[in-house]
Amino acid sequence: MAGRRSRRRHTLVLGTLAGAAAIPIGRRLLRGPARDGMAWLYRLVETGERYRRQVYQGMYLVGLTPWDRPGPNPRLVQALAELALPVGRALDIGCGTGSNSLYLAQQGWDVTGVDMVTKPLTIARGKAQAVGIPPRFVQGDVTRLGDLGIGGGYTLLVDSGCFHTIPMGQRDAYVASISSVAAPGSTLLLLSQFARPALRGGKSGVTRDEVARRFNGWELVTAEPMPTDSLPDSAVRAVEWFDIWHYQLRRRPAEPSRSGSEAMTGTRAPLA
Ligand SMILES: C[S@@+](CC[C@H](N)C(=O)[O-])C[C@H]1O[C@@H](n2cnc3c(N)ncnc32)[C@H](O)[C@@H]1O
Repeated sequence: MAGRRSRRRHTLVLGTLAGAAAIPIGRRLLRGPARDGMAWLYRLVETGERYRRQVYQGMYLVGLTPWDRPGPNPRLVQALAELALPVGRALDIGCGTGSNSLYLAQQGWDVTGVDMVTKPLTIARGKAQAVGIPPRFVQGDVTRLGDLGIGGGYTLLVDSGCFHTIPMGQRDAYVASISSVAAPGSTLLLLSQFARPALRGGKSGVTRDEVARRFNGWELVTAEPMPTDSLPDSAVRAVEWFDIWHYQLRRRPAEPSRSGSEAMTGTRAPLA
């Protein structure tokens, strides 16, 4: 009886030790495939527009959405506190389930969120209804905002994790599209963008140089690496695998017209 009990204790101790050793080994073994899997997903979403939408749709359907957070992107909260912008119209570009839109609406902004996928928009509308605030959620392509009837004059544009997955061939259209609805002097926060060289074999992602070069009519105000502690838990490893950056841009004021009479109409003083 005593012998059986001691054998059981031995088995328990050995099992616990083996389990404890297996966890870090397993993690190490999985790190490569998991990172490659992430890069593979990003390669998928950078392919043709229709295919991308289906990929995103599938990811939302099965809940494979490591970017999704219950609350706003912490860098958005920080930027709003730092910039102290007067509230106006805000556009949440590729809004997903609307956490950033809701936060902005709660801060008094008149918010429009745009996404091409149905499911996150349904979730976003449900969340908005639950808290009784009304951001407008519109389904459509952010590279063709002119087709969506969302108006213009946006003084704050937020893109948390959308631009870096837009295929290279559509990026100029993205810039033209968001510029067409942005007020002169408006602020664009391009948050949580994967940097291209960090993506193994992928073409997506975005570098600081690309942001500075591609955003015609915008001034790149800040570019900063994302701190490791600001990712949602579900995506916390991503920061070990990829460089992730936040960018802040400012829409240049309209060029003065020849007569000078309409110059600066509707603009604000440059932001701090
Ligand atoms: C990485 S998710 C980020 C979602 C959200 N901003 C967040 O922080 O949770 C990127 C989102 O952009 C959307 N998206 C990508 N390309 C788009 C496009 N061309 N037009 C509209 N939405 C797009 C996707 O459907 C997805 O919801």
